[in-house]
Amino acid sequence: MSFASAHARSQYGTTTANLTARMALHSYGTNPESWWEWLTPRLPRDGRVLEVGAGTGEVWQHVPHAELTLIDFSAAMCTRLRQVPGARVLRADASALPFAAGAFDTVIANHMLYHVDDPGLALREFARVLAPGGRIAVAVNGHDHMADLDEFGSRARSPRRLNGFSAETAPAALAEVFDDVTVERYPGDLSVPAKEPVLAYLDSWTPLTGPERAAAATKIQQRIDADGAFPIRKHTVLVTARLTR
Ligand SMILES: C[S@@+](CC[C@H](N)C(=O)[O-])C[C@H]1O[C@@H](n2cnc3c(N)ncnc32)[C@H](O)[C@@H]1O
Repeated sequence: MSFASAHARSQYGTTTANLTARMALHSYGTNPESWWEWLTPRLPRDGRVLEVGAGTGEVWQHVPHAELTLIDFSAAMCTRLRQVPGARVLRADASALPFAAGAFDTVIANHMLYHVDDPGLALREFARVLAPGGRIAVAVNGHDHMADLDEFGSRARSPRRLNGFSAETAPAALAEVFDDVTVERYPGDLSVPAKEPVLAYLDSWTPLTGPERAAAATKIQQRIDADGAFPIRKHTVLVTARLTR
């Protein structure tokens, strides 16, 4: 049984390309410290680590780990994840983990809980597979994350249009299951000097129609001509907590 949302299945079920296109836009950050460089020293990764919804396994390019299990519901993502050196890779759903209780010391859910139909169910499942004292790390976006793209019909981008699990709701949701909740916001926005990466990002969610593309290209280019780059505000937080109950 899969708990992956219809949206997640259409976005990620058979391809890594949509995720890769979106990650490419984030290379135009205003913070010289990239998201991955900022994240890795803050990411709990004690002992036996499980990353749920691991996608292309990008984080492990920046910080290898010895006792690493990676899961994703998508066969396409799992094929990519098998290239992460030393990792055990399983195709599985976040809400029905194929592991015994207490099997891990750390669970990581990086930019994925807004893709499941029932984030509360997934969080309880994460708690089940954590050993007492184990830690969890969740990265999510705020409601205003990349809102500068709303006018171009980026229809699925916002947590408002996914399941609502966001920087605003995640701390309280984690506090229902875990203790010692901390929240830290990644500082930085995007400043994109060409229209193509922005158009590729928009297409990755829902392909733009011809008229939408022409209108978006004109507006983005006008802003680049005026200011040297197209600005996009970001709002991403890392929420961590510990299992003490
Ligand atoms: C936005 S991507 C993030 C990937 C990776 N964690 C990262 O930060 O680069 C979301 C990932 O979650 C996976 N995913 C979505 N729903 C899932 C579910 N119910 N169970 C397992 N994986 C899921 C998708 O296939 C996708 O790889």
